[in-house]
Amino acid sequence: MYVCLCNGVSDKKIRQAVRQFHPQSFQQLRKFVLIGNQCGKCVRAAREIMQEELMQL
Ligand code: FES
Repeated sequence: MYVCLCNGVSDKKIRQAVRQFHPQSFQQLRKFVLIGNQCGKCVRAAREIMQEELMQL
């Protein structure tokens, strides 16, 4: 499922980046995945996915 339509980023890609890089914040995650830099509509959903994935690490 696409989370960030502006950049064509899926939830799978976000989850992979979280597992690989263990970001401490959403800002950090954004260094690894191009999300939320245009309309910003995806930010909330992307944060939730990041939190969800971090809890499973
Ligand atoms: Fe992610 Fe627009 S949907 S910046």
